[in-house]
Amino acid sequence: MRIGILTGGGDAPGLNAVIRAAVLKGEKDADTEFVGFIDGWEGVFNENFTPLFRNDVRGIGRLGGTILGTSRTNPIKDFGGPDRIATVFERNRIDAIMVIGGEGTLAGGHELAKLGFPVIGVPKTIDNDISGTDYTFGFDTAVQIATDAMDRLRTTGESHRRCMVAEVMGRHAGWIALHSGIAAGAHAILIPERKTSIEQIGEWVLSATNRGRSALVVVSEGFGLDTMNDPFSIKGLDSVGRPRLGGIGEMLAPLIEAHTGIETRGTTLGHIQRGGTPTANDRVLATRYGMAALDLAKQGKWDHMVALRGTEMCVVPLEEAVGQLKSVPDHRYDEAAVLFG
Ligand code: F6P
Repeated sequence: MRIGILTGGGDAPGLNAVIRAAVLKGEKDADTEFVGFIDGWEGVFNENFTPLFRNDVRGIGRLGGTILGTSRTNPIKDFGGPDRIATVFERNRIDAIMVIGGEGTLAGGHELAKLGFPVIGVPKTIDNDISGTDYTFGFDTAVQIATDAMDRLRTTGESHRRCMVAEVMGRHAGWIALHSGIAAGAHAILIPERKTSIEQIGEWVLSATNRGRSALVVVSEGFGLDTMNDPFSIKGLDSVGRPRLGGIGEMLAPLIEAHTGIETRGTTLGHIQRGGTPTANDRVLATRYGMAALDLAKQGKWDHMVALRGTEMCVVPLEEAVGQLKSVPDHRYDEAAVLFG
């Protein structure tokens, strides 16, 4: 069996560990070989791929990024679409394609599988917002990086008696903010799932300050302010409480300062959260995903992805994984909110 493997969408620490594990396990079977497509679906359209043998993946499990490169090329809409993919697969004897990606990439894979393509999915995102799996690799690393950064913000914040705002990734879901905020002992955690007013944020900041603490606020990039009571009081917001220009962290810092009188600084962590070496947990999860994905391909379980439920690997139809992102449930936010302020 000749399996193509590609990485699509934004990178996440652990991608290389998936590739390595699949190739190593595949080499144990005399009849399995891998080729890696370069830059996601773009590599398929351009027939740009490289053979992947044991030597090609040596030592990559601990490397961040993806040795194959990635892109947001869409397999249905871009270039020649499914017809071109079918030609490339036939000409190069590709029996299955292992697609490692986030919701967008998996949705593209699902569309292709509906057309009869032999697609296996591996869920990936630092945001941890893919439905059907408890965790995606990359998340643990991003949370660790954000936590380390906030520990650093605490010492400078305390020295200057300032409130510090850290903006973390999470366009649609607040998992990184929730977990890093709990770990760093943040006084407020602001996530896209829960609109919060500037008055409430100010109360948490003042309550921490009044106890002699320098407040730490963590905010997901996708958070929107609750302006229900006074929609016109804050300039520069759109109809869902998001800044028209710039990032939310950048916008919140002066707003908190104006509401509390406490000097406030904002820091956006950005792509630092996606870079560098994966944590041990992410390496383990990614390795298990890579091996489980090979098993799916060998069983011909197309249109499915591997997933983690509790501590066990399982199999989820791609249809269940795409279409709806996994949000932070209310009870998880409320549990953390007990410690705010
Ligand atoms: O989906 C993962 C993610 O890291 C989001 O949290 C973030 O909004 C986005 O990717 C950034 O994407 P890009 O690298 O294309 O700017």
